[in-house]
Amino acid sequence: MRAYRLNDSTQSAAPDDLQRFGVAYWNLSLDETARAASLAAIKQERGYVDEDVVVLSADNPDYATICAKFDREHSHALDEVRFVLDGEGVFDVRDGTDDWIRIEVTAGDLIVIPAGKYHRFSMTDRSYIRCLRLFADNSGWVPEYR
Ligand code: LAC
Ligand code: NI
Repeated sequence: MRAYRLNDSTQSAAPDDLQRFGVAYWNLSLDETARAASLAAIKQERGYVDEDVVVLSADNPDYATICAKFDREHSHALDEVRFVLDGEGVFDVRDGTDDWIRIEVTAGDLIVIPAGKYHRFSMTDRSYIRCLRLFADNSGWVPEYR
């Protein structure tokens, strides 16, 4: 994970800083057993009851359309919880003064963008990410555009 202010990349943000913006972050072991235990604990503690795995890749015929949806600033009624299994991606979240904080994630990074927090997501030049998504209920996943 690497995080910094989008308008001043010399100002990096540590996991503790992300906490100040309401974003929770963990780096989980890629070891299957250790990771399963950590994920189970986080699900239990935060009430995430559902999960699925998504792949976004340039091979996908809808790649450009999907990217265009995520790239627009939006929020959700539920926490957005993403554990990166492979590949990489870029989350931008708003800080308290509406500046963007950029968070680049790679395999092993688990990020929680809380319900109601405006954000957007984009891909890197690798054009590939595989993520585990955790959900606080199973009513579906809807963006509310700003
Ligand atoms: C989403 C992310 C990518 O809404 O922001 O699934
Ligand atoms: Ni989102």
